Amino acid sequence: MSQRILVTGGTGYIGSHTVVELLSAGYEVEILDNLYNSKIEVLDKIEQIAGTKPKFHKVDLLDMNALQEVFNGGNFDAVIHFAGLKAVPESVEKPLEYYENNVAGTLNLLKAMRSTGVKKIIFSSSATVYGIQESPEYVETMQTGGQLSNPYGRTKYFIEEILKDYSAMDPDFQVGLLRYFNPVGAHPSGLLGEDPNGIPNNLMPFIMRVAEGRLPELKIFGDDYPTEDGTCRRDYIHVVDLAKGHMAMLDHLKPGVSIFNLGSGKPSSVKEIVSAFERASGKELPKSIAARRAGDLPEFWANPSKAEAELGWKTELTIDDVMRDTLNFIEKSN
Ligand code: NAD
Ligand code: UD1
Repeated sequence: MSQRILVTGGTGYIGSHTVVELLSAGYEVEILDNLYNSKIEVLDKIEQIAGTKPKFHKVDLLDMNALQEVFNGGNFDAVIHFAGLKAVPESVEKPLEYYENNVAGTLNLLKAMRSTGVKKIIFSSSATVYGIQESPEYVETMQTGGQLSNPYGRTKYFIEEILKDYSAMDPDFQVGLLRYFNPVGAHPSGLLGEDPNGIPNNLMPFIMRVAEGRLPELKIFGDDYPTEDGTCRRDYIHVVDLAKGHMAMLDHLKPGVSIFNLGSGKPSSVKEIVSAFERASGKELPKSIAARRAGDLPEFWANPSKAEAELGWKTELTIDDVMRDTLNFIEKSN
């Protein structure tokens, strides 16, 4: 019998791509999302790609009664937990809202899981939990939680710790902590992708807005970093590769806490990303060099060896695939 998976945040950017992979692999999927940062139309797009429309619950994780009802009727085998707020500057302005939504939301989820005997969870963590390290190549065994620069990052760290404590109490509980590096790109169909409200903070969504003519130019935050071309380097990962990482994790969950970096291991600089976008679109992107952004590290990337060795997962798509799929998504959305 196929497994039933509840995906929180399943209409969001990474969640929707993962739901497509789950449905295509024959899982039964239900989505829970309050639609704070996503649109109901995503369900139709999922259906167009995967041939099935998952059952949808418009529920906020902070609404314990509604959440409990979803679980009472659910009979879920596992939860993949994407739901959360993720804008770094907003988390500095609204720390209480971030702690409440992300941390209290996860506590409610765990209580609902406990009351209905659901023993498996995969959590969307972030490379941000590593804080500042001596080496820019992050390995899962490094200490986390030190010198984190914002409340968003601390919610991820705290939730990881909560999941570790909970699993220590229940020997049957199975946790997958997936530390994402920089998710980018879109579904090759052009139907799903990242479409944030307002002015984006992150590099690729900002580039997309400039390419669409909705923002005048890209500001490159600093070209005087100690890197080869002076701009910051990050480990960008295609969202479809990232979605597949969740499938691999689901297959390899075991009692206790399993932690994996999901990244490519190959960093790209801001200038390299801009050049790749310009190459793919055939147009120059309006851009200028601006001051450094507070809190940015010069460079970091994933050591993805553990995921490859234990999950049999590694990235397959390149930065050029990211750009092709992003341009296709822009074209299909306009
Ligand atoms: P997203 O905003 O597109 O998706 C998150 C979804 O969660 C949204 O649809 C939103 O409406 C929903 N949501 C938020 N709070 C909720 C609540 N209280 N109850 C119910 N639904 C709620 O974000 P994403 O980029 O798909 O990220 C998914 C997860 O991955 C997040 O937890 C994020 O912190 C984490 N993550 C993202 C990145 C990234 O760069 N995108 C990097 C590392 C980690
Ligand atoms: C940021 C968050 C991180 C979060 C991640 C999600 C900060 C300090 N960190 O990471 O916690 O998990 O997003 O993907 O906010 N850049 C520009 N111009 C722009 C936008 C970005 O030059 O308009 C540069 C940045 O300086 C950085 C690189 O592009 O060097 C990537 O930026 P971004 O996409 O925001 O990701 P991170 O900073 O790595």
